[in-house]
Amino acid sequence: MQRALARVNLAAIERNAARLRRELGPRVSLCAVVKADGYGHGAAPSARAALAGGASWLAVATATEAAELRAAGIGARILVMGALSGEEVPVALAAGADVVAWSERFVATLANAAGERKVCVHVKLDSGMGRLGTRVRSEAIAVAGLVRAEPSLELAGAMTHFATADDDPGFVTEQLARFEPFVAEIRRLEPGLVVHAANSAAVLRQPASHFDLVRCGIALYGLDPMNERAQDWGLEPALELTSYVAAVKAAARGDSAGYGRRFIADRETSLATLPIGYADGIRRGFTNNLDVLIGGRRHPLVGTVSMDNITVEVQSTPAGTSAGGEFPVRVGAKATIIGSDAEQSQSAEDLAARIGTINYEIVCGISGRVPRAYHRDGVPE
Ligand SMILES: Cc1ncc(COP(=O)(O)O)c(C=O)c1O
Repeated sequence: MQRALARVNLAAIERNAARLRRELGPRVSLCAVVKADGYGHGAAPSARAALAGGASWLAVATATEAAELRAAGIGARILVMGALSGEEVPVALAAGADVVAWSERFVATLANAAGERKVCVHVKLDSGMGRLGTRVRSEAIAVAGLVRAEPSLELAGAMTHFATADDDPGFVTEQLARFEPFVAEIRRLEPGLVVHAANSAAVLRQPASHFDLVRCGIALYGLDPMNERAQDWGLEPALELTSYVAAVKAAARGDSAGYGRRFIADRETSLATLPIGYADGIRRGFTNNLDVLIGGRRHPLVGTVSMDNITVEVQSTPAGTSAGGEFPVRVGAKATIIGSDAEQSQSAEDLAARIGTINYEIVCGISGRVPRAYHRDGVPE
């Protein structure tokens, strides 16, 4: 039994990629976003599964993430979407990654670092996200012109990113209205470049945003970009997070559990301790505020989430133990935090709703201390 374990179904990721591909026209490519260690699912295994399901590009946020995919033997085209410092540029270029530019200065840095390589550059317009990219179309076109003028650089793409594809289609339309004239102008410079804008939510809800390539992260992992119910979109959650019952003990009325005594038993009960805590990604905000599935039933997490442990109230009879003096759950029983147990299930979206965040943050927050185990529909990889 592992103290904490994230089991990842690569067949589900492959099917989610195929599901997303079905939303796309035959000439639109799928780029699998595997930054942040594949949203906590493992970057290289997730990338391979997405490629098997019909993705043809990969995207990451950082130069190191691109280098790690290459070190894992992945040869697919990789786009580094994030800002790169002068120090990071050589790492991205050594990985043979495409990079994003929006300033003339950065184009000069790229040209200096390119050496013998041909570096593929995507120019980013900030059409309303207010993050990376330039808001000024003429500036973006000037950057594109500079890229074309540099023999070591190739103008490979034009891109933008949506701020509200998950909840405000009206603003997506506004962003498209700003992006489209830029696309028309840059295509005149370089007719063959790859135009891309859509994230998962836009792929599912805004066909007009698909252009030549879409960049999908969250939906690949079977999570709902709208943070509600992934099944409604035909997506299959790929990750299950479990721990186990390491200890179980009776508690009398007035006994407390955990730091700060934030749980005090108001009756005789039984408490199980699971060796998983905030250092594994069970955020402290789940204090007295989460269910854990054990033996096909839901049990409340009680008391404060510690670094390495949580406590769950597992009482099933008023006396805290069953008639035979046995505890209602046995030491060694599997405890599911994300996933299903018999009729019960709990999703990353359910966890997110408990603490006012999004499913992205829940899965990305599963720490490196938690081993990942890969399987395909139950068959270990
Ligand atoms: C620039 C960019 N494109 C695409 C994505 C993928 O978004 P999603 O996971 O919502 O599909 C991200 C992720 O945040 C991103 O930063």
